[in-house]
Amino acid sequence: MEENKKRDGFGSKLGVIAAAAGSAIGLGNICRFPCELGENGGAAFLLVYLAVVTILGIPLMLSELVIGRRSQSNSVGAFKKLAPKSKWPIVGYVGVLCALLIFATYSVIAGWTLEYIYKAATNSFHGENLTLIEHEFSTFHNTGWLNVLLQAIFIFLTGFVVFKGVQNGIEKYSKILMPLLLVILIVLAIRSLTLPGAKEGLAFLFHPDFSKITGDTLVDAMGQGFFSLSLGMGALITYGSYVKKDDNLTSTAFSVMISDTLVAVLAGLVIFPAAFTFGVKPQAGMELVFDTLPMLFNQMAGGYWFCLIFFILLAIAGLTSTIALLEVVVAYLSEELHLSRKWATVIASAATLFIGIFASLSLKDGTPLTIAGLSFNDFLDFTTANIMLPLGGLLIVIFLGWRLGKTEFFDEVTNEGALKVPLKTAVFFIIRYLAPLAILVIFISGLVN
Ligand code: PHE
Repeated sequence: MEENKKRDGFGSKLGVIAAAAGSAIGLGNICRFPCELGENGGAAFLLVYLAVVTILGIPLMLSELVIGRRSQSNSVGAFKKLAPKSKWPIVGYVGVLCALLIFATYSVIAGWTLEYIYKAATNSFHGENLTLIEHEFSTFHNTGWLNVLLQAIFIFLTGFVVFKGVQNGIEKYSKILMPLLLVILIVLAIRSLTLPGAKEGLAFLFHPDFSKITGDTLVDAMGQGFFSLSLGMGALITYGSYVKKDDNLTSTAFSVMISDTLVAVLAGLVIFPAAFTFGVKPQAGMELVFDTLPMLFNQMAGGYWFCLIFFILLAIAGLTSTIALLEVVVAYLSEELHLSRKWATVIASAATLFIGIFASLSLKDGTPLTIAGLSFNDFLDFTTANIMLPLGGLLIVIFLGWRLGKTEFFDEVTNEGALKVPLKTAVFFIIRYLAPLAILVIFISGLVN
């Protein structure tokens, strides 16, 4: 029987947390979260965000981990095993597609980080003012095939790690890269906090203005939370299936949520003091990262090194996330379609690059590659983050709460009774009633707007 073949998996508790936190912590924390904060009134958004990831994020993450570990299967196989002869595997298929599409757009930006590492290493921002740096950024993202080449390199790096396997690839590299990322981020935050704009930056980050909280804040917080925690598309079902039977899933979910949020706040501590010091509006999107920061580094003692390590940090954060995205597809191809890991990796990477080329080229000014008034890239970004992830999340909690049920959930989170898990009844209540309702309401109100 196939079941008897030993499945690859994570070797240690720390490995599980490094890999899952690696998947969560990514460009979403460093590029996207500070912008969301900027647009939604700073600390007010932070509070709503914390509430959303605690009340909805943790139960959904736990549901995914339970489904994965219970089934010992990839995200499609999991539903086939736990709900045989049903339509539930569709949730898994949509997740695999979603992973592929997110990877295709995500690798565009991740590719940019490689160019910026090169620019930083060759000291190319030296002596430039903001206008010049902005000009350079817009010239760069209009170059077309250079972007595609960098994206291809990034996809190749991801494929290299995934091809090595779960324990010898994903776990091994996450255990090296994640601590490195944390150290870099702390050093940068300390530097930024000693700038003249630090006080204003901190006030912006931590003084909530409750008048800024509206229905939209909730929609944005949920979108950001699901994306940032890698929820709703099977990444944590896949990773959950590699977690040992005696590991504690609940504490894993908490550790991942806390480290993900901490890194997002730390990124804010790097960016906002700098933004206020140089008078840049905190809501400027990608420009905050690709324009403001090089500018900041220019004016800092030791700026050359800070700039270089910052873009290395971005690349690392991106890589541990793309690894998770690719693994969802590779696990599916190898377990369901019985391809070798090597071929699964090659095919999934090639498919990503194929879609990714269009995503990348669609970012050129005046591109014909548009859908519904958005560039192909932004269209993919919108559909995956605002539609596929919330819908996926909704179906996953419904599956756990109504189809898999309480007994199996309790068995899995308590390791068949060996662990005491306080509040498990409350968590199950949230999964069964509150989470589906809340996700649905927030999702629909987001669409209506
Ligand atoms: N969580 C990652 C980030 O914040 C992105 C991601 C989404 C990774 C979904 C895997 C799955 O950047």
